[in-house]
Amino acid sequence: MDRNLAINLVRVTEAAALGSAKFMGRGDKNLADKGAVDNMRKMFDTMDIDGIVVIGEGELDEAPMLYIGERIGACKPDSPKVDIAVDPLDGTNSVAKGIENAISVVTMAPRGCLLEAPDTYMFKLAVGPKAKGFIDLKAPVKKNMVNIAKALNKDITDLTVTMLDRDRHNDIIKECRELGCRIKLFRDGDVAAAIATCFDHTGVDVLIGKGGAPEGVIAAGAIKCLGGEMQGKLTPMSNEELERCKKMGVSVDKVFLLDDLVKGDEVYFAATGVSEGDLLRGVRFLSNNKCVTHSVVMRSRTGTIRFVEAIHNMDKKPKYAR
Ligand code: FBP
Repeated sequence: MDRNLAINLVRVTEAAALGSAKFMGRGDKNLADKGAVDNMRKMFDTMDIDGIVVIGEGELDEAPMLYIGERIGACKPDSPKVDIAVDPLDGTNSVAKGIENAISVVTMAPRGCLLEAPDTYMFKLAVGPKAKGFIDLKAPVKKNMVNIAKALNKDITDLTVTMLDRDRHNDIIKECRELGCRIKLFRDGDVAAAIATCFDHTGVDVLIGKGGAPEGVIAAGAIKCLGGEMQGKLTPMSNEELERCKKMGVSVDKVFLLDDLVKGDEVYFAATGVSEGDLLRGVRFLSNNKCVTHSVVMRSRTGTIRFVEAIHNMDKKPKYAR
């Protein structure tokens, strides 16, 4: 695939972030999401790809755009055939409330390479490159933490474990506290949190806990580019969700390894901050109708990681990119 696709992908997440960020703090998560979805959808059509949305805004009857199965891109006969996993806004509540960690995000890989994950929870364990090979979702939490600390050459009391601030994680919190680990809870946005484990500057070493399965596949794309490791297991919370997994043919018993979540070594990933986060800065609105976005874009084959800070002159931008 053309390496320039990576740069074009960042235009897609920038447009989504710009579309959403203007609704920050308005208390309306649907408005914030719609701003991101509309812009992302339009920007995709400018890309020379023949894409199928495998992870998107829902089924056709739930979502008018970026629905699962939707064909997107220029779709010319020679356009690369790709799978697309999108979350135009991971952290809808965060933007509605004006709090941290919301991002616009896309993972792209050749057709058939992304796991078509059902909309259920996934129990996730993610670490950066230095702890690759030291995690095992089937092993107890404590054993994992001890092994990760060893891999990082850290005292266990210096290991920083991050997870969604949810009651369902109370047992994990208790076990981590017994070990003396540092714990960093966050309100929303486990895609950014999973990726943060791969960057020293974020100060987090491990992501653990249940979050959305679709978000798990999206994060796996970034972790593959960054050389980290992630494992996940679906954890449906109702019979209805269990049926959905069965219907889609995905096992609820299997521990999905990184290569199950994202196959092969030609993965593209882009994310743009919407609100402030450890990984990316949020959109900033300057005087004279200018905006600044902060993004990260990566390609697994070369392992190049680019942080892109862009100043957008909104007067000169086409409508779909605002
Ligand atoms: P949305 O933007 O779709 O609301 O997702 C935010 C998020 O925090 C995800 O990052 C995470 O995977 C999921 O919600 C966790 O779900 P729940 O809020 O049900 O615990």
